[in-house]
Amino acid sequence: MHYTKSNEETENLGSAFAKNLKPGSCLSLVGELGAGKTTFVRGLYEGLGGVHLELVHSPTFSLMHQYPLAQGFLYHLDFYRLDYFREVLDLDFEDQIKDNITVIEWGNKFLEMRDWYTHQIILEVENGGVRKISMG
Ligand SMILES: Nc1ncnc2c1ncn2[C@@H]1O[C@H](COP(=O)(O)OP(=O)(O)OP(=O)(O)O)[C@@H](O)[C@H]1O
Ligand SMILES: [Mg+2]
Repeated sequence: MHYTKSNEETENLGSAFAKNLKPGSCLSLVGELGAGKTTFVRGLYEGLGGVHLELVHSPTFSLMHQYPLAQGFLYHLDFYRLDYFREVLDLDFEDQIKDNITVIEWGNKFLEMRDWYTHQIILEVENGGVRKISMG
């Protein structure tokens, strides 16, 4: 369990977690609105050697972003606006998982996807800007 007190600390945690990832890794990010999921992804991308950190922002409307890595991409999705698992299948990104790294905000929304994930990050909002973050 980790506690962060700022954006930067949450980014640093994401950056450090990147060492656990390899092509085929698929992360579910769980936490309420504003918990820090996108902030964590920015750090993750940095830790993966990403050089275009400015690309990392919320895919709430576009549903999926792809950020270049030395090999392959970091795919960044957000399921907040989806209601049906069918909509996930319609995004047609499933075949990209094995050769890339995938991170999904609100990844716990569809039980059908439980077996797709290799990691789960849970962010909880505590008092005073503190985030409680568990990574596994
Ligand atoms: N310890 C912290 N770690 C991360 N963000 C923090 C922290 N404390 C405060 N914040 C603020 O919380 C917000 C987190 O925004 P972010 O977009 O990362 O959340 P999110 O979980 O992706 O939200 P959404 O569900 O809307 O996509 C930012 O405004 C940030 O400044
Ligand atoms: Mg977000």
